[in-house]
Amino acid sequence: MARIVAGIGSSHVPAIGAAIDNGKTEEPYWKRVFSGFEKSQEWMRETKPDVAIIVYNDHASAFSVDLIPTFALGCAAEFPPADEGWGPRPVPVVQGHPALASHIAQSVILDEFDLTIVNKMTVDHGMTVPMNLLFGKVDKDAHWPCPVIPLAVNVVMYPPPTGHRCFMLGRAIKKAVESYPDDLKVVIFGTGGLSHQISGPRAGLINSKWDTAFLDNLSKDPQKLVKIPHVDYMREAGAEGIEMVMWLIMRGALDDKVDEAYRFYTVPASNTAVGHIILENRGRGAKVGGKKPAGKRKPTTEKHKRAAAAAKVDRVRS
Ligand code: DHB
Ligand code: FE
Repeated sequence: MARIVAGIGSSHVPAIGAAIDNGKTEEPYWKRVFSGFEKSQEWMRETKPDVAIIVYNDHASAFSVDLIPTFALGCAAEFPPADEGWGPRPVPVVQGHPALASHIAQSVILDEFDLTIVNKMTVDHGMTVPMNLLFGKVDKDAHWPCPVIPLAVNVVMYPPPTGHRCFMLGRAIKKAVESYPDDLKVVIFGTGGLSHQISGPRAGLINSKWDTAFLDNLSKDPQKLVKIPHVDYMREAGAEGIEMVMWLIMRGALDDKVDEAYRFYTVPASNTAVGHIILENRGRGAKVGGKKPAGKRKPTTEKHKRAAAAAKVDRVRS
């Protein structure tokens, strides 16, 4: 059977993609951001998922005001990078997993979540930036390390889905994955946020206190988050802070109790707070990959002990 072993939360600031594409990752401003993902890339190389489900939002790239699906699941065999005004990003075409995606569509629709099924779609920075942050830079002619099932969520035009609806969709996705017969190790991403507002008099708004509380509750008490109304996101985290509801789909797809394997938070990147978290299902990693989850693993060699100590220091909570 397939299993979700971990959830990953990551911002998707487009300027991060531009920094990668234009060779600026070593500049001090960007190094601060990218260094926070070095351990995550190591974690990803160790975890080696068979499939990633990436919950993200389209920024009027594949969809427009003509057509706004609330939840759209990508069931295609591939998803080319979108042209967001400067030509498509120089990243590989994203390979899908049509068999698992169709299985998820069937399962969650019969569970009364009326997803839109998408058989042709390009994907924008909302998806490719978190992929770069977790998988590293991948040459345009190479391959991303695993197939991806995109789940696009409307957080662009009012009304987006509620946090509770998102969490419950995550629950339905968990059930769907666990009823897939093949032995696949799956990770799920929640992307977007954290606090930011791109335009208007409050442009540049960042609320680190809100962001930190969100990450704390995501890890330990997500039921507190599912009750937050849209207006609170807007007021506290800025107009685009509403993207954070997508992280609740990821959290809903995990077990009730999870181990927080890693966290990173820095401000600003562009005008935006950058947040990142890795949450592992207890025992799930052990069953699928033959390894205990990182939170339960005891460092054995001196090298691992030093790495574990460094990882603790790196957890930034501002
Ligand atoms: C910006 C755009 C985004 O979609 C986002 O989530 C954060 C920042 C920007 O234009 O800076
Ligand atoms: Fe965005």
